[in-house]
Amino acid sequence: MEHCCRPIGVFDSGMGGLSVWREIVKLMPAESVIYYGDGKNCPYGDRSQTDVIKFVQEAVDLFIERDCKAIVLACNAATAMSVDYLRHKYPDRIFVGMEPAVKPAALNSQSGVIGILATKATLEGSLFKETSMKFAHNAKILSCVGDGFVELVEQGNENSQMAFDIISKCVEPMLQQGADHIVLGCTHYPFLAETISRVIGDRNVKIVDPAPAVALRTKSLLEQKGWLANKDNKCEYLFCSAADESYKAKLKQKALLLIDKYL
Ligand code: DGL
Repeated sequence: MEHCCRPIGVFDSGMGGLSVWREIVKLMPAESVIYYGDGKNCPYGDRSQTDVIKFVQEAVDLFIERDCKAIVLACNAATAMSVDYLRHKYPDRIFVGMEPAVKPAALNSQSGVIGILATKATLEGSLFKETSMKFAHNAKILSCVGDGFVELVEQGNENSQMAFDIISKCVEPMLQQGADHIVLGCTHYPFLAETISRVIGDRNVKIVDPAPAVALRTKSLLEQKGWLANKDNKCEYLFCSAADESYKAKLKQKALLLIDKYL
């Protein structure tokens, strides 16, 4: 297959990576995309690195079999635990990972206090620690493990009262301590942005989602290789999962809603 017609593979533990998928499809409408949402082993936040590498490997095998030209790990936890391993194992392949957006948040913060919401795996990972030290050493970083956040999204309860209560517990203390930026360090969390906004209310606080930057990075890596699809490419969107058919159908349904709402 010609490089330009090869699909992009996008991976997540579940539905969260669709927040990155949406940005990729918006930015590169001619590209075919295969989305793999594990679904069976989600959430990854508390799992061991050995397990996560095994789950990611299954998706990577499928992406390679389908000749994907780039693989986007649209999962902060999976990036933290497997991207180094994958880059070492497949040095000729393009892997794009997630990085918590502490840099833009720290640069734009007026108060010097930023909040980050992420899973335990991401917050304990060396990538988050290194990024924070490199780009946000002048800022005060308040972190909170989003206990139950991933489940709210997987179960379609993003805008419920329960979501409001769970999110308030994490976000309200950050706001009380002066945070003026809340970084979404998990790809499921952009689907909670409306509820996070309700918790913020009329306070002047910005929610930072790294997904658009990840889509841009993917585009620029493909551009460098001359692998971008032609405008007239007949693109296809495919949805795969380690879970059952009904989960696959849910992924597709959520993606179609995103196309209606945002694209
Ligand atoms: N979307 C994943 C992330 O970005 C969620 C991780 C999980 O499954 O716990 O980290």
